[in-house]
Amino acid sequence: MTAISLTRFLLEAQREHPDVMTPDLRLLVEVVARACKTISNAVNKGALGNVLGNVGTTNVQGEAQKKLDVLSNEILLEANEWGGHLAALASEEMDEPHPIPNRFPKGEYLLVFDPLDGSSNIDVNVSIGTIFSVLRCPEGVREPTADDFLQPGSRQVVAGYTVYGPSTILVLTFGRGVACFTLDREQGSFVLTQRDLRIPEDTSEYAINASNRRHWDPPVQRYIAELDAGRTGPRGRDFNMRWVGSMVADVHRILTRGGIFMYPVDAKCRDKGGRLRLLYEANPMGFIVEQAGGAATDGRQRILDVPPQALHQRIGVFLGSRNEVERVTAYHLGTA
Ligand code: AHG
Ligand code: MN
Ligand code: MN
Repeated sequence: MTAISLTRFLLEAQREHPDVMTPDLRLLVEVVARACKTISNAVNKGALGNVLGNVGTTNVQGEAQKKLDVLSNEILLEANEWGGHLAALASEEMDEPHPIPNRFPKGEYLLVFDPLDGSSNIDVNVSIGTIFSVLRCPEGVREPTADDFLQPGSRQVVAGYTVYGPSTILVLTFGRGVACFTLDREQGSFVLTQRDLRIPEDTSEYAINASNRRHWDPPVQRYIAELDAGRTGPRGRDFNMRWVGSMVADVHRILTRGGIFMYPVDAKCRDKGGRLRLLYEANPMGFIVEQAGGAATDGRQRILDVPPQALHQRIGVFLGSRNEVERVTAYHLGTA
């Protein structure tokens, strides 16, 4: 069977779904994928490429920036500036949106990304990735500001992530299911390796940073206690736990074999609104997970329905296998 490249996949999507996959959107995804190949190469070089360690600065969220955080951000910015497909970009690593310089044409899309997810895993050679989300620029807006990015996740036109792991993969949705591509390094192109990923509705695997246990709210305490009670507890079976510490890797495992991923708002992070960011972590992952038949809530409501108030807003996250996400959400709502 002939391999289907990302280029061919996107062209076919454009023919089949011209209402969503416009030529500009196709170009946008190609450009992001190309930038991710460059990031993948930098990640692969590791210590040999002098890309490990901190740069000595902090981002808008007060987190120490790693060299790869900054480098990945620059790679994505430079790749996306000149193509004419974007009106503006925003990123975890920049306080404010980055306008398209006036010397370049402007397009109708907004791109928002987490250039390097899983920063704490960079220096220890564990999987990391990039997360991105594409929105439409509001009609008539020529110079988008942060407010123009504050659209609920249900308005995303594309979401995707890469994992720089044993192989580099790209997972993508444009609202018609989820496809997975693997980077063929000899060819230099992403090749379709799975069409229509589906998350099993049930699972016996969960992901949470259990060191935060003492900070959790009662519904999370109850849910995890029931899972941990195993076969003789109320769930009647044993559950397994996995926590990579890179959302991309944890979510990819769930997309591959099921599971529930949780980063709840707890007493430790309540003043910040949570740990993970709505626009470039929770929304794109929520869109992908829903497109794969799973569910994503903040504990009470569907993440994609949350109206953002700020560019770097944080939120609680429960996503993955539908039946487990619904159960822990019901515990929060007091309906179970
Ligand atoms: P980032 O590296 O972009 O700041 O994101 C890290 C996030 C996410 O990838 C992961 O799930 C979570 O932080 C890990 O949190 P803990 O350090 O609490 O495990
Ligand atoms: Mn992240
Ligand atoms: Mn990041």
